Amino acid sequence: MSTYTPDNRKVTTRRLIEMKTRGEKISMLTAYDYSMARLIDEAGMDVILVGDSASNVMAGNITTLPMTLEQMIYHGQSVVRGVKRALVVVDMPFGSYQGNPIEALNSAIRIMKETGADCVKLEGGEEIAESITKILSAGIPVMGHLGLTPQSINKFGTYAVRAQEEAEAQKLIKDAHLLESLGCFAVVLEKIPAKLAASITQEISIPVIGIGAGGGTDGQVLVMHDMLGINKGFSPRFLRRYANVGDIITDAVKQYIEDVKSRDFPNEKEQY
Ligand code: KIV
Repeated sequence: MSTYTPDNRKVTTRRLIEMKTRGEKISMLTAYDYSMARLIDEAGMDVILVGDSASNVMAGNITTLPMTLEQMIYHGQSVVRGVKRALVVVDMPFGSYQGNPIEALNSAIRIMKETGADCVKLEGGEEIAESITKILSAGIPVMGHLGLTPQSINKFGTYAVRAQEEAEAQKLIKDAHLLESLGCFAVVLEKIPAKLAASITQEISIPVIGIGAGGGTDGQVLVMHDMLGINKGFSPRFLRRYANVGDIITDAVKQYIEDVKSRDFPNEKEQY
């Protein structure tokens, strides 16, 4: 049973920075639909990420690359309808911001206008600096994402831990400082050594949210289907499973099938 009681105020980008300053850890979890977003928000989550991991856990794709802007907008709209308190971040999908800054700005504007979300998240550092600057110039808050950036999986060729080599670690540090100086309000660090993530967290003033990046970051993010045990085939070392919802669903569905077949359902009270 949780002992944490959140206050009812809407979480803003500013409040996340205040949380970092006073050392309060930031909780973040993905959601892709109204019903789950509502439950997660009511539980007191600080940040809800409409991740392009929807491609994997909702659509059954192997990578996040097939996700379109329209699909992200659909998921974003569904989540926003269920959320009162959490900050809602929508991932910009692969191909919607890498081409040029104007395309990036137009994609970000569509997400903000059509979903009602609070901000967007983009993967990458120096390579997309101009796109980030352009989006920020329109008053749209940007969350960065460095380390194992899933939209670059074809370049990496592996889901192994990133930035273990000095050169990649140095680039990551440089990129984290760059995102801070461009004006990003926070950054996600995915699957990098805990020591590196902790030292970046100390060095930059914006909140650092980790996934597979150890306990030294300002907050943690997980994919909802992974932590609830709905996506049972994915068990990386960094994942903690908080429930076995997949088993609960399978048992309930099996019981329902049995009850229908055996004519137990519906009974006298379950009809008109
Ligand atoms: O798409 C996503 O779910 C993400 C998280 C893994 C951070 O980007």
